[in-house]
Amino acid sequence: MAPQRRGAPRAAENSGAAVRRRPSSAKKDRVLRESWRKWLRVAGLVAGLVLAALLLWSSLGTEDGVAEVLAHRGEVLAGRFIEVPCSEDYDGHRRFEGCTPRKCGRGVTDVVITREEAQRLRSIAAKGLALGGSDGGASVLDLHSGALSMGKHFVNLYRYFGDKIQTVFSEEDFQLYQDVRQKVQLTIAKAFGIGESSLYLTKPTFFSRINSSQARTAHDEYWHAHVDKVTYGSFDYTSLLYLSDYLEDFGGGRFVFMEEGANKTVEPRAGRVSFFTSGSENLHRVEKVLWGTRYAITIAFTCNPDHSIEDPAFT
Ligand SMILES: *[C@@H]1O[C@H](CO)[C@@H](O)[C@H](O)[C@H]1NC(C)=O
Ligand SMILES: *[C@@H]1O[C@H](CO)[C@@H](O)[C@H](O)[C@H]1NC(C)=O
Repeated sequence: MAPQRRGAPRAAENSGAAVRRRPSSAKKDRVLRESWRKWLRVAGLVAGLVLAALLLWSSLGTEDGVAEVLAHRGEVLAGRFIEVPCSEDYDGHRRFEGCTPRKCGRGVTDVVITREEAQRLRSIAAKGLALGGSDGGASVLDLHSGALSMGKHFVNLYRYFGDKIQTVFSEEDFQLYQDVRQKVQLTIAKAFGIGESSLYLTKPTFFSRINSSQARTAHDEYWHAHVDKVTYGSFDYTSLLYLSDYLEDFGGGRFVFMEEGANKTVEPRAGRVSFFTSGSENLHRVEKVLWGTRYAITIAFTCNPDHSIEDPAFT
């Protein structure tokens, strides 16, 4: 287009002028037009290459189809909340007004639990899990029920180890769990505009330790997409407290909210609390851990007092 625009005014300028200048002027125009065409071709080629490079770069950047990071490992979030429309999953259960989600969504905060508290919780998880551990990559320790992964099964920590357990865990360990549970509960209540006392701790609540070892049983397959309310009917609000740092302590293992169009990831960071309503508005998965060890705690809440459990206790 540019050559014509440029050519036309020149022709107009020259039109009334001496005809004798025409041959050389026409030749000049032709040369000019040709060089413009050449430039346009080069420019088009360059633009094409740049576009191809951009496409390649963005496809490499969205490994696993992960498009957007909700919380980067390096950020310290004072609280980020994203509302999403509630699914109908809650309709199949008894409703508790003022608690059963009417507002749904997901939040992340780095200021509710300190890194020091996370560090202490991680030591509790490590010493408990040192008593057992799955043969596959995923081990759990549930201080409430006593369930501990061992080989391809679970044992009851309290029955299996008896009084020896009192030499492993201390009263302060359980106190810390309770303090953390309380702070997370308050955070969830505030974010969703419900009364703190209308929420109850529910089971299971557990520490998880994941490494890159190959899965041996279905219990080791933590990476499948799932809906918490489908897996555990009692859950209304789920929270995860991370006890180790993505890319410092382990690789892979990001939490992914799965959505049509764009998945959203939460990169674990020690002390980071990620919480969300438990229905299918928050379908999610955890990426496979590629190296290192990832520690976290799952703490879930129900609105139904019949499903409530006490905090794990030092007995
Ligand atoms: C979201 O993640 C899943 C599984 O990791 C993937 O199959 C899907 O293509 C992703 N979706 C988008 C829109 O990126
Ligand atoms: C992962 O943890 C298990 C114990 O649960 C251990 O036996 C295994 O060696 C660990 N794997 C790696 C790759 O560190």
